[in-house]
Amino acid sequence: MMDPTKIIGKWYQANKREMPWRTTKDPYLIWLSEVILQQTRVQQGLPYYLKFSAAYPSVADLAAAEEDQVMKLWQGLGYYSRARNMLATARTVTRQWGREFPSDYETLIQLKGIGEYTASAISSIAANEPRAVVDGNVYRLLSRYFGLSTPIDTAAGKREFASLAHDLLDRQRPGEHNQGMMEFGALQCRPVRPGCDTCPLASACVALREGNVERLPVKSSRPRIRHRYFNYLVLRENGRIWLKRRGTGDIWQSLYDFPLVETSGPVDEAGLLSRDDFREILKGKLFSVKYVSKVTKHVLSHQVIHARFWELRFPHAPVPEHNGFLRVEEQKMESYAFPKLISNYLENNL
Ligand code: ADE
Repeated sequence: MMDPTKIIGKWYQANKREMPWRTTKDPYLIWLSEVILQQTRVQQGLPYYLKFSAAYPSVADLAAAEEDQVMKLWQGLGYYSRARNMLATARTVTRQWGREFPSDYETLIQLKGIGEYTASAISSIAANEPRAVVDGNVYRLLSRYFGLSTPIDTAAGKREFASLAHDLLDRQRPGEHNQGMMEFGALQCRPVRPGCDTCPLASACVALREGNVERLPVKSSRPRIRHRYFNYLVLRENGRIWLKRRGTGDIWQSLYDFPLVETSGPVDEAGLLSRDDFREILKGKLFSVKYVSKVTKHVLSHQVIHARFWELRFPHAPVPEHNGFLRVEEQKMESYAFPKLISNYLENNL
């Protein structure tokens, strides 16, 4: 009988990518890497890890950081609440608890933003705790190898896969084993065009035998996608540009964007200019419409933003102060954290 744990362990030693977080036992640095890797692939995560670990080499350094700086370093990764939770957790650990970053599961799981996955990853890698991780890579690998079609986004599926992952755990080397499972899922048992031709598990893989590789894992429900229509007002005057810091209760909290008129569908110029919320931003100032962009579709996990940028020009500068908006000098724009939708626009238009 094939022992998949042994085979994956061997495969990992031969195929793992050298990464800086794989040569440390510091639970803080491992936490940093795991939060980044929940957000992006290993290759894309590396520059973010290098930036963060250089800017904040210890949890106390992160705790002392300004939220705006942390958001700026996170810019482009998406899911910005992760960065905010990370900062809050760094402050809890150092300021409230007055201690180093923990490495045991029971303490980790109490922290904001740290769930079962992250607590298992950190405690197994940093402290050799026998905790099996189950991320998307592991779901894919297990569902295919064992030919399981239980939907992974249900309570029953989560239980089944967690228990299977636990049974397979290499209790001598839980951290290496967990990383090996994830690396195997990322490099060998890929979502599309998996490397079955060269797979050391192929001879015992149920999905391969039954021709179901591409159909696994199964998800029960697709989330309903919400469509939103953002009309951004690009207001420039005297080398300054109007920005708004986004508030709570919506996407991109604590990032910066432009004055925004959200509509329930696409609007034309007459439609936009006659709206009360548009007029409220302009407060009766004279302006002309200088440029209207094409619609950019920006896809998030549960919503699609249809964005149009309206560049307005003021004939009479300067415009009086205005509540709620910042006027930022264009040369100082780099120090603000923007959602990708906005930074792409700035790159192409500023
Ligand atoms: N994905 C998330 N964490 C990982 C890790 N430590 N190794 C490989 N893939 C990962």
